[in-house]
Amino acid sequence: MGCPTIQTARLVLRPLARDDTEVLAALHAEESFWHYPYRRGWTHDETQRFIDRSLELHESGSFALSAVALREGGDLIGWAGLSIPFFLPEVLPAVEVGWRLGEQYRRRGFATEAGEAWVQHGFERHALAEIVSIYDPENTASGAVMRRLGFEVGQETVHPTNGVRLHVMKLARSTWLDAARQARSRLQGSPDPPSTNAGR
Ligand SMILES: CC(C)(COP(=O)(O)OP(=O)(O)OC[C@H]1O[C@@H](n2cnc3c(N)ncnc32)[C@H](O)[C@@H]1OP(=O)(O)O)[C@@H](O)C(=O)NCCC(=O)NCCS
Repeated sequence: MGCPTIQTARLVLRPLARDDTEVLAALHAEESFWHYPYRRGWTHDETQRFIDRSLELHESGSFALSAVALREGGDLIGWAGLSIPFFLPEVLPAVEVGWRLGEQYRRRGFATEAGEAWVQHGFERHALAEIVSIYDPENTASGAVMRRLGFEVGQETVHPTNGVRLHVMKLARSTWLDAARQARSRLQGSPDPPSTNAGR
């Protein structure tokens, strides 16, 4: 499994590497990057451990977060990808999609573009029945990315260690497939009724 490399229209999603440490440490140091949930930027050591952990996960074949880089110029702008939300045992077993971008790279659709690619990967390559995405409802920008990708509120809960409110957003593979089919038929100009295939 690990983290494959995927190209989208404007991005390269690839495994994080030790060479990313300095650039990622600068992004992680921005307070807004980690405001949800830590309310502070990260230290260089924390970024180092984050990269070490990502490499371990990648090398052991587990779900691992990807670097998000611009196709044009190759700049590292943040990270995104699939992971297991161990921090919230009540939703397990589950696979989560997430994203974090440096401040200067927001409001350009990059998080949605990366998220869309990882959702497609999760449903097509791993045949997941459902993907979750978890956020503090105050983090409206992240909630908007989830809604653009078709996620809906599945469950409301609180963070087990800091007590912050959380929304667990969910997207079922059948819903995603229906939306993709309808988008295709809109492009082709012919109606395509929603599927009722419960076996997926
Ligand atoms: C969450 C986060 C990734 C969302 O970033 P974002 O920039 O709002 O999301 P996108 O990159 O998908 O950009 C979407 C915005 O770009 C706009 N946009 C501009 N050009 C665009 C283009 N070419 N294509 C698509 N959208 C475009 C969209 O209209 C949208 O703006 P809107 O929300 O005002 O409608 C970002 O706020 C972040 O990194 N926050 C800190 C980390 C974090 O909290 N992560 C989530 C934890 S749950």
